[in-house]
Amino acid sequence: MADALPHCLLNGTIVATGDARISPFDRGFLFGDGVYEVAPVYNGKPFRLDAHFERLQSGLDALEIANPYPRPRWVELVQKLIAANGGGDMGIYLQVTRGAGTSRDFLPEPDMQPTVFGFCWRLAAPKPELLQRGIVAATLEDIRWQRCDIKSVALVGPVLLRIEAKRQGADEAILVRGDRLAEGSSSAVFVVKDGRIATPPANHERLPSITRLVVGDVLDALDLPLYVRDVHRGELLAADEIWIASSTREALPVALLDGKPVGAGKPGPMWRRVFDEFQLLKQRETD
Ligand code: PDD
Repeated sequence: MADALPHCLLNGTIVATGDARISPFDRGFLFGDGVYEVAPVYNGKPFRLDAHFERLQSGLDALEIANPYPRPRWVELVQKLIAANGGGDMGIYLQVTRGAGTSRDFLPEPDMQPTVFGFCWRLAAPKPELLQRGIVAATLEDIRWQRCDIKSVALVGPVLLRIEAKRQGADEAILVRGDRLAEGSSSAVFVVKDGRIATPPANHERLPSITRLVVGDVLDALDLPLYVRDVHRGELLAADEIWIASSTREALPVALLDGKPVGAGKPGPMWRRVFDEFQLLKQRETD
């Protein structure tokens, strides 16, 4: 991931990234008590921002944190952050924590003032070699908690999983709960067999991925049905194609899983169609 750009957002103000300061008593720092969003920006325009704000609201509701800003104020702040950093293609990170207390009590103090932090970085298009070769993934048992639908800033589970994936030479961990596919350590997962595309349903075992919705729209445009159902471990190993999808990586093909080729061991034809249509949709929505 590229370095943070020079201007960030802290509690409603754009400040120099190097000067941003928060209290060490912030509950985000002490407890991971907060939620975040990552959204792509193309050509200076945030992509599917409403969906990201809706998910942010669901996360805040789940944590019983009051949203510090109405939607128009959020949009204005995001626009200021993008403009301050020169527009173009970027990833944007937004985080809301419950705020800073006066001690380390598990039980939050009443009426806390949430802390809002946002920053961005240059988002490069995936390298052509990567699109030609595909990525490497490893299946790992999902060691995370029971509320993976919340985009919580408490991410030590995925951090450990990514370290283990890297140790196995993989770019992404594909997580399973027993026999069932959960999701990627930071991505949604799609499986293709005999031309049928499947992805598991939105529930507490996985994040309601915005890119998964975008891929759904892409498949609609291509007139290809998406089967939303449980996916079993055996199907991963026997798949013709596997794709991972996220806001910063769009949809990428998995070429190797656990050291074995997925299908022909290179990006498949269905992924290529999805990738091309994804680019068109992106352009339409952000031109
Ligand atoms: N992560 N599942 C998990 C666990 C994720 O962390 C992510 C994205 C996704 C894909 O969601 P979306 O399509 O809305 O980006 C699925 C982001 C990119 C991150 O934490 O950096």
